[in-house]
Amino acid sequence: MSITIFLLFLLVSPSFSAFVAPIIKHHVQTTPYYTLKVHLKTPLQPTDLLLHIGATFTTVDCTRNYTSTTSRPVPCNSPLCRSLQSNKSSTTNCDIPTRNAVVVPAADSGGGCVVLPHNELALFDSLALHTTNGSNTGQLIVFPEFVLICSDKSSRLLQGHAKKEVNGLAGLGFSKYSLPAQVSTSSSVFAVCLSGSPSAPGVAFFDLVKPYDFLPGIDVSYHLNYTPLFSHSVPSTTQKGNTKQPEDAYFIKVKSININSKPLNINQKLLSIDKNGFGGTRISTTNPYTVLEASIFNTFIEAFTNESKSMNLKLSTPAKPFSLCYEADKLLETDVGPKVPQLDLLMDNDVIWHVFGKNSMVRIVEEDMDVWCLAVVDGGDRSVTSMVIGGHQLEDNLLQFDLGKKRLGFSSSLLQHKTMCANFNFGTNTTIKTV
Ligand SMILES: *[C@@H]1O[C@H](CO)[C@@H](O)[C@H](O)[C@H]1NC(C)=O
Ligand SMILES: *[C@@H]1O[C@H](CO)[C@@H](O)[C@H](O)[C@H]1NC(C)=O
Ligand SMILES: *[C@@H]1O[C@H](CO)[C@@H](O)[C@H](O)[C@H]1NC(C)=O
Ligand SMILES: *[C@@H]1O[C@H](CO)[C@@H](O)[C@H](O)[C@H]1NC(C)=O
Ligand SMILES: *[C@@H]1O[C@H](CO)[C@@H](O)[C@H](O)[C@H]1NC(C)=O
Repeated sequence: MSITIFLLFLLVSPSFSAFVAPIIKHHVQTTPYYTLKVHLKTPLQPTDLLLHIGATFTTVDCTRNYTSTTSRPVPCNSPLCRSLQSNKSSTTNCDIPTRNAVVVPAADSGGGCVVLPHNELALFDSLALHTTNGSNTGQLIVFPEFVLICSDKSSRLLQGHAKKEVNGLAGLGFSKYSLPAQVSTSSSVFAVCLSGSPSAPGVAFFDLVKPYDFLPGIDVSYHLNYTPLFSHSVPSTTQKGNTKQPEDAYFIKVKSININSKPLNINQKLLSIDKNGFGGTRISTTNPYTVLEASIFNTFIEAFTNESKSMNLKLSTPAKPFSLCYEADKLLETDVGPKVPQLDLLMDNDVIWHVFGKNSMVRIVEEDMDVWCLAVVDGGDRSVTSMVIGGHQLEDNLLQFDLGKKRLGFSSSLLQHKTMCANFNFGTNTTIKTV
């Protein structure tokens, strides 16, 4: 398949060899979420999938009218099936592939491949993405043998997100079967840029190292700093004993959290991942705000309060779920958000991720309230991961995941460079090509 795609690009258009998709922000009160817009099935249907940076597989909700003329189960006992099951199951795990309300022919009547941990059916179907050369969008390319997981447990799958708009989950985790891995032919690089704009989408690039051109003609690849990137499966049992989707999540090493250049005094052990996968700093697109382990959270809030006092900022009544809020009309607005204590993450390689007001604070406007709140929540004292960097903190930052070089490229706020994630030119080409 890879060779065919590669040859096709040589013939069609050498520079439009990477892929692109919009990332849409759904504004739901205090729990916004992000979806990736792809095209699925035959005939192709535009589909919004919850953007899940750490998920192993791309999963679709099969309980809701899965109709496609090209879907078929991955045959049970095939090498692909064993690989999807990560060779974990000692017994053959097959199923009659009509179970999830998907009407598909039985694969050689041997049944379909069932994938752990939730015994869900693996399918082939078409997925299509637009090509890009890093500054413009090209035609739609169809991947007819895209491997999906067909879920009949949609509520767990979508983690309670509005089901009307979301039809599944786009898995970008460190896995051979993640969405980036399945559409990439020349590199193992993808990038995401979540938009902070209420209307214009952000963007995901697949199989593209550079350029990342945003209007007015700024190539963000020149503004990246790099820190080592790790992958780790996250223990999939939550405190309530529920099992979640399998995750091959991305971790970075944060060495110090600084507020107005002063390092927080926190237990260093919490910043490393132990042998059971606990601790460390993970990147998440399904947590709307950064989640801190309780002791880090408490120190963070105290230090931020101290620093904001020294800047003469006056606290207001907090708006749930946040702890520290300030009246909006009392804060000075800058190009990078309200002027509040500066937050910096010092990481491996001695690079610094600067977090300005637009990313550290969230604006809450309600009937008789207009405040900026510190967009950080308490993860409790039994947190699996000590620090989970959430969507709000990632907005208008470009993140490049280079799985070959095992490094994360990050831009810090693009607002510093007078552009933003909503500034990618999505002028679309409606030509469709199947590979
Ligand atoms: C199922 O989807 C097909 C194709 O999109 C559509 O024509 C049909 O009306 C849908 N059926 C139901 C029950 O929603
Ligand atoms: C998993 O199964 C595949 C296909 O059967 C095989 O090639 C591979 O070596 C196995 N991997 C492990 C870790 O056992
Ligand atoms: C991408 O393609 C457009 C339209 O063909 C062209 O104007 C632009 O210069 C190209 N950009 C790059 C980086 O190749
Ligand atoms: C869309 O892309 C195809 C293939 O690259 C090209 O032939 C066609 O002219 C493009 N159409 C538009 C409207 O840009
Ligand atoms: C905050 O200020 C108080 C009073 O000056 C001080 O005792 C405390 O250590 C400070 N906390 C942090 C985390 O800096």
